[in-house]
Order: sequence, then structure tokens, then C-alpha cells
Amino acid sequence: MNGICFLWLFWFSICHADSSVYREADRNQVDSPVLKYLLDPIHEVIITQRGANVTLPCILRRKPRSYKVKWSKINPVDPLESLIIISNGQHHKNYDKLKGRTRLRRSHRLDASLVITNVSLEDEGRYRCELVNGLEDQSLVLMLQLEGVVFPYQSADGRYKYTYAEARQVCEVHDGRLATYTQLYQAWTDGLDWCNAGWILDGTVRYPVIIPRGPCGGDLPPGIRSYGPKDKTKDRFDAFCFTSALKGRVYYVHGPMNYNEAAEACLARQAVMAKVGHLYAAWKFSGLDQCDGGWLLDGSVRFPITEPRDHCGGLPDPGVRSFGFPHKQQRLYGVFCYTQV
Ligand SMILES: *[C@@H]1O[C@H](CO)[C@@H](O)[C@H](O)[C@H]1NC(C)=O
Ligand SMILES: *[C@@H]1O[C@H](CO)[C@@H](O)[C@H](O)[C@H]1NC(C)=O
Repeated sequence: MNGICFLWLFWFSICHADSSVYREADRNQVDSPVLKYLLDPIHEVIITQRGANVTLPCILRRKPRSYKVKWSKINPVDPLESLIIISNGQHHKNYDKLKGRTRLRRSHRLDASLVITNVSLEDEGRYRCELVNGLEDQSLVLMLQLEGVVFPYQSADGRYKYTYAEARQVCEVHDGRLATYTQLYQAWTDGLDWCNAGWILDGTVRYPVIIPRGPCGGDLPPGIRSYGPKDKTKDRFDAFCFTSALKGRVYYVHGPMNYNEAAEACLARQAVMAKVGHLYAAWKFSGLDQCDGGWLLDGSVRFPITEPRDHCGGLPDPGVRSFGFPHKQQRLYGVFCYTQV
């Protein structure tokens, strides 16, 4: 009987009123594993955007006599965790993992929440708050998720040119990061249908299909197709990159201009040519809609459509359309410029 009540105790305060039950259990089970020090999180998934400040809540229900709180990030690729911060309630030591962007919130004496400032794409993942008091270490895990958009990236030289390491790099160059499986899955539910396979962060090769068709896995139901195990150093595919909200602004300047003139047009406005990730972020987060192709820094020409209409790429759904990589001397397009302010 005691046992059952004891479990309930930590969810409701019903048993708390009957303190005799509580004390008895406490005395009889000296190393009882159920003495719970950490409050269950209200939300296990915390959603934020790049550039934001975010708090990962970790609240003590009571203060052990002596203890440490340890925050770490769980690395899905390397099972060793990365330490972020250790605190003993008074002093704390910061580790290098998030490069000075973390601190404990301490808004009251039982608060061990972690604050991350200027959230970056790499911050996405699972975090563990661990209470270490020598006897019965306890922890809770929170998932930090970024709102964002996934964009497939294909080389100017054609389909399937990147090893895994090159795909990672190419996403960074274009203001993104290789997408996680969860991000690709989310993008698929948001409408991403792409019939070319690309690397994702976990080193697998996949592609999302909404409308099943011959060359894209045939009659298989809609979903994320997998290519099975691939050799990260030898096999070559496209990349699925992820990017989140953007600090700054993307805007269109009308042409016609060739690539070099387009670069100058942005410079003349104290701006630079937008990267592919910039354009996707502006489309997703600022509703950028432009029915004219514009040069981007990588030499591709694209245009973002938020309200599909006739004579604007002809597709029924919103999206960023591409003209591929036209010859850079052709005087045919406008340009998308990016400015940080
Ligand atoms: C984040 O917090 C810092 C101070 O820690 C503040 O200067 C900055 O304006 C905040 N950024 C946002 C987006 O709220
Ligand atoms: C936020 O981080 C980005 C890199 O992710 C950096 O370029 C920018 O300067 C940082 N902003 C602040 C206010 O620290």
C-alpha cells in the first residue's frame, strides 16, 4: 500500500497531507530510488528559432544538502555526452561546448534551468539536466527543436556529386546544416516532395515522396524513402540542408543582369548576394514572394512563391523554384540581395 501511495506522492500532493505515510516510507527505505528531486518538465520539446534566447527548464522540487547540477548535450552520433555546465548551487563551471552562450537562469533558489542565447542550428538536439548528489543521481531530458525549412541541394555539376563530408560542408556554405531525420520528416509533412536522394546528418541517404510515381520508389506509399547503408567516403548524393529564421532581410532587385552585374547591384546597396539558405528562410519566415528569377551567390537562379498563381512556375503548392545554374554571362535575371540590417 505504502509503495503505491509513495509513487503517487510525486504526481499529486494527495499523499503529502498524510505525512505519516511519507515519513514511514522515507525511514524504511533509506536508499529509496523514488525520492524525486527534479520536477517533471511541462513540455519535453522546446521549440525555438535560430538567433533566439531559449530556456531549458530544470527545477528542483527540494534542495538536497549538497549536490551538483550538470547540464550536457546528448550527441546522437557519438554516445559520449558533451558537458555544458556544472554548478554546485553557488559556483558553476562552464565548458566549451556552446562557446559562452550558456548560463544558468537562477530566477529562484530551486531554479537550475539552462539559458542558451543566440541559438544556432547546431544547438538542436537533446539536453540532459542531471542532479548529482552522490546517492541517487537523477536526470531529465529535454529536446530542443528549431523551427525551420529543409532545402535539397544539388551541385552545379549535376546530380549526386557529394560525399557525406562534402554534403555537410555544402550546407554550411549555403547558410544551413545537414538536416536531421526529424527535420526531413517534418519537411515532408509540410509538403516536401523530392525525387533525388540526399545525405542527412545521421549519415543515411533518403528522399521524401508525397506523390508516389515510377522513378521515385514506384508504388510504395508516400513517405521518406531510404537507400539503406551507404559509404560516407565513396558514395555520392545530393544534400538535404536545414536552415532556420534569419537575422536580416532578403529582397529582390530587378534585372536584366548577368551574374557579375547582379553582385555589383547588391554591393551598391551595401548588401551581398543572398545564399540559397537565406532565400528559403525569407520565403518560410517572411513570406517572400517574387514571380521573377533572381541570381543567388552560388550562381543558381531561383524564385520564392508563397501564393501559387498562374504563370509563376505552374506548380500548385508554395515553394522555392529553381532555374538551375544558367550561364553566368546571360543578361536575363534580377538578383536577391541579403543585408544583415
Ligand atoms: C538575448 O539575451 C541577450 C542578453 O543575454 C540580449 O542582449 C539579447 O537582446 C537577447 N536576444 C533576443 C533575441 O532576445
Ligand atoms: C549569433 O550567432 C551568429 C552565428 O551563429 C553570429 O554570426 C552572430 O554575430 C551572433 N549574434 C550575436 C548577437 O552574438
